[in-house]
Amino acid sequence: MASVPFDQLDGFIWMNGAFVPWGDAKIHVLTHGLHYASAVFEGERAYGGEIFKLNEHTERLHESARLLGFKIPYSVAELNDASTTLLKKQGFQDAYVRPIAWRGSEQMGVSAQNNRINVAIAIWQWPSYFDPAQKLKGIRLDVAEWRRPDPRTAPSRSKAAGLYMICTMSKHAAEAKGYADAMMLDWRGQVAEATGANIFFVKDGKIHTPKPDCFLDGITRRTVIGLAKDRGLEIIERAILPEELEGFEQCFLTGTAAEVTPVSEIGPYRFEVGEIAKNLMNDYSIAVQPKHAIAAE
Ligand SMILES: Cc1ncc(COP(=O)(O)O)c(C=O)c1O
Repeated sequence: MASVPFDQLDGFIWMNGAFVPWGDAKIHVLTHGLHYASAVFEGERAYGGEIFKLNEHTERLHESARLLGFKIPYSVAELNDASTTLLKKQGFQDAYVRPIAWRGSEQMGVSAQNNRINVAIAIWQWPSYFDPAQKLKGIRLDVAEWRRPDPRTAPSRSKAAGLYMICTMSKHAAEAKGYADAMMLDWRGQVAEATGANIFFVKDGKIHTPKPDCFLDGITRRTVIGLAKDRGLEIIERAILPEELEGFEQCFLTGTAAEVTPVSEIGPYRFEVGEIAKNLMNDYSIAVQPKHAIAAE
């Protein structure tokens, strides 16, 4: 699978209301979304034939577009239906789902008031975001040079394509040094998140995580906070300074793609893959399974 280029996978892509053969889902080179990053997207996972928290993801897609000043021309219910139908059509039980909405190619220039809003959904098999063997031992993170911007500088609550420019640059720089990913600080110098996942730390049995005031408050983040509370664990959402990393015992990332991934290293700091991280990893893998799959066991 890794050797097949993504634009040559099999099946269909839902594009503006129709299921088109995978290789025909193309756009023009003068697409506004490509030149000016007027695009928003989602990342979802299906488990056992059902997309986990589908409605929350589709609502976030609508909200991301609203924050960028455009309206998606399909309702949340229509997009949910398109995703569910496409998942069946692709024939996958476990898969990754990528909806995207973008301004089209009718007009070039910063202003694109009348450009068509396009929407597409692609679904493919994507088993693990990080190397599964590394995931069990805890992944290694570098500290990124780029910082999450001030929310007055960029629409940080939107899952906007443009915000990923600094993520790709940070992840590439980390990979060039042999790390799996990078931890990003925010514009104030506080700990923010990884390049595609939220971050948590454990100290003295309590969980500490940065307040999501300039980065995505992940759907997985909120799910894992709920799971931790179900275990009676205390969650402290607060500003975390990079110097504090020395005192934390465990660290893990959360995200739709990353799921719950323990971290063993961030720059000079070391963490153990401890009970809390392992338990939450396990709780999450149970929570994502459709209710009917669990009932059948
Ligand atoms: C930059 C960034 N932060 C956090 C997250 C986690 O969000 P979620 O749990 O909703 O997937 C993601 C993944 O989508 C992300 O790309």
